[in-house]
Amino acid sequence: MMMQDLFSGLTSALPEQENLAEGAVLLRGFALSAEQDLLSSLSAITEQAPFRHMVTPGGFTMSVAMSNCGPFGWVSDRSGYRYSPVDPQTGRNWPQMPESFLQLAQKAAAKAGYADFMPDACLINRYEPKTKLSLHQDKDEKSPDHPIVSVSLGLPATFQFGGLKRTDPVLKYALQHGDVVVWGGVSRLYYHGITPLKDGDHPLLGRYRINLTFRKAA
Ligand code: SIN
Ligand code: FE2
Repeated sequence: MMMQDLFSGLTSALPEQENLAEGAVLLRGFALSAEQDLLSSLSAITEQAPFRHMVTPGGFTMSVAMSNCGPFGWVSDRSGYRYSPVDPQTGRNWPQMPESFLQLAQKAAAKAGYADFMPDACLINRYEPKTKLSLHQDKDEKSPDHPIVSVSLGLPATFQFGGLKRTDPVLKYALQHGDVVVWGGVSRLYYHGITPLKDGDHPLLGRYRINLTFRKAA
């Protein structure tokens, strides 16, 4: 049919899988089939461990609101960045990592060429319009031998992916609801970030973008 050809033409304009660098892959729409499970688990987690704006060691309040699930959670305060089994805001352990989160992270890692990924930390980032995450490396994990799996939900964002040095050229990728980026191997410590979020209204998440970042921290 004419209409179907038109639509498939549109959706196939962007490849389902795109290499960003050696060891780094964008898997478009990879999380879509799990979206309902992910979103219902997410609400349960953030009821127990509410989103909060952490303070950097330099004293700045981060514009991205954060929570965590899993055995370890990433935290920041005046004394530094680290992983902690306890949510400093509640004094309790972080909520368990839901099975749907774990399965998705493992499937995405395997698809990207990283078999047997066993994340023990899931950082949950919440962006509103204008919120950004400056270029940084993920280097608070004990070993760089494990990949990062990053799941995008809600409003679209522009992901910057550079190199080992902050000054290396940066490529930009549009990340949509359901996209997953995996980076490891030689690109595991590459600089990356999110440019200020554009305003919008997502059918499931309204004016928010949520990012789940799975790591092996310990
Ligand atoms: C991160 O670098 O931790 C998050 C990246 C993103 O929000 O896509
Ligand atoms: Fe990061």
